[in-house]
Amino acid sequence: MSPRSFLLDDALWHYVVDHTLKVDPILARLTDRTKELGAAAGMQIGPDQQALLTMLTRFAGVTSAVEVGTFTGTSALCIARGLAPAGQLICCDVSEEWTAIARDAWSEAGVDDRIDLRIGPAADTLAALPVEPSIDLAFIDADKGGYVGYYDELVPRLRPGGWIVADNTLWSGKITDAADQDEATKALRAYNAHAAADERVTTVVLAVADGLTISQKR
Ligand SMILES: C[S@@+](CC[C@H](N)C(=O)[O-])C[C@H]1O[C@@H](n2cnc3c(N)ncnc32)[C@H](O)[C@@H]1O
Repeated sequence: MSPRSFLLDDALWHYVVDHTLKVDPILARLTDRTKELGAAAGMQIGPDQQALLTMLTRFAGVTSAVEVGTFTGTSALCIARGLAPAGQLICCDVSEEWTAIARDAWSEAGVDDRIDLRIGPAADTLAALPVEPSIDLAFIDADKGGYVGYYDELVPRLRPGGWIVADNTLWSGKITDAADQDEATKALRAYNAHAAADERVTTVVLAVADGLTISQKR
């Protein structure tokens, strides 16, 4: 995994970044701190996706958001910045260590009062949420084997018009490589098929970053 899209060569990648909202100092410091984690840093979303998440959140007038897979807090920070006044984001992750870095960045950015971080398996955290159609936006970016289960918990809790955005759904191109039978690859194929066949939503797969599957509840 890499914060940079596999779909773009060097020239196109730099062009996209150069013509996208500049990364501010707080996100830049968070990226530096995340890089200190070594290979795990590849899990962080890239600058194009950061700007897109804030824009989508703002565009949708989101007051209630849920994130599955927080890591060091980049996507959560970008969603929190786009929330409508009094908007709230529930974050799910299993790692105290990685989310401690997230908490520092959220505090520095002044969005910590908008974020409710819940440590524990996301399947349990989602199942404990009230089954009311109140969520405006959900971002799924955690263990790939859990994606279909997270989606199934989220759809009944989405308000009509609400969105689920799932990350890594083109999986560096491996999604169409029949020779790749890795468990994560198979889980992502199952996710895309599940969302595409679900008549409760309208789904579009965007060739952005590592692939974003966006499903909007009818
Ligand atoms: C790809 S990273 C998330 C990246 C993050 N969205 C960002 O912008 O940097 C995946 C995260 O999912 C978390 N995770 C993995 N399995 C999980 C589970 N069963 N429940 C909750 N979180 C989980 C990991 O601890 C990790 O922080």
